[in-house]
Amino acid sequence: MKIFLDTADVTSILERFETGLIDGVTTNPSLIRKSGRDPEDVYRELAMAGIPDISMEVVEDMIGEGQRLSGEFPHVSTIKVPCTPEGLKACKVLSDNGVRVNVTLIFNAAQAILSAKAGATYVSPFIGRLDDNSVAGLEVIRSISEVFRVQNVKTQILAASIRDVYKVSRAFWNGAHVVTMPPKIFDGMYKHILTDKGLEIFDADYQATVSRVNKSAYQPPSSIRARVGSDLDSF
Ligand code: E4P
Repeated sequence: MKIFLDTADVTSILERFETGLIDGVTTNPSLIRKSGRDPEDVYRELAMAGIPDISMEVVEDMIGEGQRLSGEFPHVSTIKVPCTPEGLKACKVLSDNGVRVNVTLIFNAAQAILSAKAGATYVSPFIGRLDDNSVAGLEVIRSISEVFRVQNVKTQILAASIRDVYKVSRAFWNGAHVVTMPPKIFDGMYKHILTDKGLEIFDADYQATVSRVNKSAYQPPSSIRARVGSDLDSF
């Protein structure tokens, strides 16, 4: 059950990587554009910070670029290709050469099947974009998960295009191995109004206890003294 961050904002990734709960990062050309940075500077900084798995999308000359990036960023790079005939050709060549590949823009089980046959490490179904088009994204996760289970396929399902916290747990429940999410969704996973309320009460009670208790004045009651006897000093 892995959590990836879906952003190219290095500062925001590193802040959350410190929690020890982040297993990787996914980027795409739109996220890179939004960052306003050179993609390779982003990948380099993430690699230097110890992010173990970084999806880097290739657009032109996918095989050549994939080989180059995996050489430049060994161990941490996952080459991201679209689910097209060209993309899956690149997936086959790269995965045959030991490169991790994430096939992106997956919208049904048929595309996931082809990607798995091409040796993909990950397939990325886009839940939010399916929902936007009146198709239940979580159902697509479920159907890919069932096919992979029945056929004993090792390719992992990486649920993408996540728009709310609820979808994270439901994606895992429906069989996703990885969920990639924007940082604000990751932050939202901690939150529950009853946690805040409960914490407020515990904090107030803790402070009241701290101000009441005087440790140096402590004397055990006679019933405890009688039980412990001469061993009293060892406590
Ligand atoms: C991740 O790999 C995808 O690129 C991303 O989740 C797409 O999300 P969006 O539909 O919110 O753009």
